[in-house]
Amino acid sequence: MPKIPDSFYQELLSRADIESVVSPYVRLKRSGQHLLGLCPFHGERTPSFTVDPQKGLFYCFGCNVGGSSITFLQKIENLDFTEAVKELADRAGLRMPEMNAAEAQMEQLRRQILEANREAARFFHAQLMGEPGRAALNYLLKRGLTMKTIKHFELGFAPNDSGGFMEHMRTAGFGESLLLTANLARNGSYGVMAAFWNRVMFPILDVRGRVIAFGGRVMDNSMPKYINTSDTPVYKKSAGVYALNFAKNSGGKLILAEGYMDVIALHQADFTGAVACLGTATTKDQAMLLRRYAEEVVLSYDADEAGQKAAIRAIGVFDTVGLKVRVLRWDKERDGKDPDEILRRHGRERFQRLLEGAANDVEFRLLSERSKFDIATDDGKRGFLARACEVMASMRLSETTLDIYAGRLAGELSVSREAITRETERRRDILKRQGAKRQRDFIPTNLAPVYNREGTVPVEMRSAEKILLYSLMRAPEFYPALSETLTASLFQSPDAQRGAEVLFRRLANGEETSLIYLEQDADGEVMSLFTGLELTFNKSFTVSLQECRDCIAVLQKTRGKPPDDVAAISADDWLKLFSG
Ligand code: UTP
Ligand code: MN
Repeated sequence: MPKIPDSFYQELLSRADIESVVSPYVRLKRSGQHLLGLCPFHGERTPSFTVDPQKGLFYCFGCNVGGSSITFLQKIENLDFTEAVKELADRAGLRMPEMNAAEAQMEQLRRQILEANREAARFFHAQLMGEPGRAALNYLLKRGLTMKTIKHFELGFAPNDSGGFMEHMRTAGFGESLLLTANLARNGSYGVMAAFWNRVMFPILDVRGRVIAFGGRVMDNSMPKYINTSDTPVYKKSAGVYALNFAKNSGGKLILAEGYMDVIALHQADFTGAVACLGTATTKDQAMLLRRYAEEVVLSYDADEAGQKAAIRAIGVFDTVGLKVRVLRWDKERDGKDPDEILRRHGRERFQRLLEGAANDVEFRLLSERSKFDIATDDGKRGFLARACEVMASMRLSETTLDIYAGRLAGELSVSREAITRETERRRDILKRQGAKRQRDFIPTNLAPVYNREGTVPVEMRSAEKILLYSLMRAPEFYPALSETLTASLFQSPDAQRGAEVLFRRLANGEETSLIYLEQDADGEVMSLFTGLELTFNKSFTVSLQECRDCIAVLQKTRGKPPDDVAAISADDWLKLFSG
């Protein structure tokens, strides 16, 4: 990690206002002196993501990730440390100190790949518009796309002759090895050749409008129908969302379709919130990306079985990140198999009407549960009811909504409405209790050891580690008196041990030990640990030399012993150490 002068840091972080760094990604609401929102790093329905504007820190009490503006940018934009510092420095108009060679090289590589992709997109588009692309252009026009749409999406054509592409790229200054790394070329039996040929090309842009990957479709029925760029240093397929660069500005209503052509047809029909998740199944990464731009997503997956299965899976994923879902349903025979076909056959009005009538997620999930049971039988009825209550409980419905669905189910299955409501509430309470227990476990309870989240490190010891680290951050002046007995190897939790190394090195050199300075040497886990301490130990936390000594005693007593043995220190014994 590069050594960046403390003075630069101070300047940088004093200018980087954490609220304005975080708020493009998370809807924040004020709560006392903190700001609260849904964590962008893990799925949750109730906000535990906390921003402390005064300290310039964020921390999630759900997933225990935290840090400064730099950490945040690193994680959310998938940047490395130096890139994040650089980005913040740029925004603040500060000049960066030098970065180290490996990082500079990686950054250079990413930039070159993005340039190569941009050039390739230009080439493919020019081909489509020229003589070589006549058949391809015809194909697209026959499928109902307008020239305006084709240009808007920068569609292209990869010609049959792979040499032409390679030659063009070489002339433009992109060598074979770069093209291989970018996945624009691959090794064939006659040497390095273009990865795409004789295909209609769909460039994939990120939200900043950079070309990060491509999809290419054949123009007949040959297989595979599409080939896509696999992962590269600038592209992670499982996190990719097609057309989000356009859809993000469409006002918070996203339509999630399955395919490139569906998305394009939807945009052409003025449904500019249409996107498609790339890769096989919708992932949490994708769901969290979508959540930055929308509160609700309308799923419009194909009417076939595969599409409906994918929809059910996606609903599960969206549910875990707190994104509302509605599901579009239509009749395959009457309307068409996918949005593209519906629009072609019946026009935008029909799709608009389908959108307005889209079932909400409860209804959809109840329907999909019902399809798994034979409700003509008592067993099937019971099975379906149990699942239905479980589904409704997990979705935290309001009283009225629950009442409506309970009423409907009661009517259909001839059971009492109250029984359904009661059963659902019972299950909801169980879920709530489990949730509350999880919440409790995340908050360091200082002197009240509960249950050991870290698994192998006993709670008493974990607390001693935390108190000791935090005391020394707050009171570096204690260090000289303790330095003889203090070593990082006293700490048994890996993150605490690495944290201690970072902290003690600074203490030994008489350097700043506040959190923002520790960051340049700390990895993500250590940073999260420190931030957690900073935000959870309350203001009344007292720092005393004696307490530090007590903590050291706990750590010494337990050092090197196998976890089972260590756990033998009872909570009472541990408390005694502090009361003495
Ligand atoms: P579909 O088979 O539904 O294709 O695959 P489509 O988008 O409707 O395309 P048209 O209308 O036949 O031209 C849905 C999506 O799954 C991915 C693509 O992203 C496609 O848009 N897919 C499909 C592949 O990546 N590879 C394949 O071979 C097929
Ligand atoms: Mn299609």
